[in-house]
Amino acid sequence: MSYPVYLIGYMGAGKTTVGRLLAERLGWHFVDLDEAFHEIHGLSPADYIRTYGIEAFRRKEKYVVEDLAELPIEKVVYATGGGYPCWEDNMECLKELGTSFYLRWHPHHLAERLALTDLSERPLLHGKDAGEILEVIAPQLEARIPYYEQADYIIDAPATLDMPLDGTEDEQLAEMLYAKIVGE
Ligand code: S3P
Repeated sequence: MSYPVYLIGYMGAGKTTVGRLLAERLGWHFVDLDEAFHEIHGLSPADYIRTYGIEAFRRKEKYVVEDLAELPIEKVVYATGGGYPCWEDNMECLKELGTSFYLRWHPHHLAERLALTDLSERPLLHGKDAGEILEVIAPQLEARIPYYEQADYIIDAPATLDMPLDGTEDEQLAEMLYAKIVGE
């Protein structure tokens, strides 16, 4: 398996939380690419999109990922932004740069998880309940799946639809990824 590791998936998939837990477990570095974007450009992705539009954001986001990949540190877990893999040739870039893992969830669970987070930075979802969030995210997730599924590995969230989420899913996902990475 080649380094570094990129976690991809829709908003609410746990890329940041799982990535941090995984990096800790592996003794690797962790970089959240949304945070790196904020540090480099002085605006959060949401504010950047509000100010300059989505196209400008995607172009800058692409450079952030590619520039950081030039750092001479290989043992890094990166949490990508949810839309990054679905722009231009970004998925091919990720596959050349390292190993990608898609954190795959059912949209109902993503909606439930998102409803529990601070949505003030997500204008399209702000003020909505899980059912309304599902209506917004389901078509976008559907359109993104063909990109996400190009990942080197697909890791299915442990939650099943007939069981309620118990809050340990991120730890379980980190453990599943850890086993995969050390087992390769
Ligand atoms: C986006 C997801 C965000 C962030 C930006 C756009 C998207 O990242 O990059 O607001 O298009 O799905 P997270 O998936 O980390 O929330």
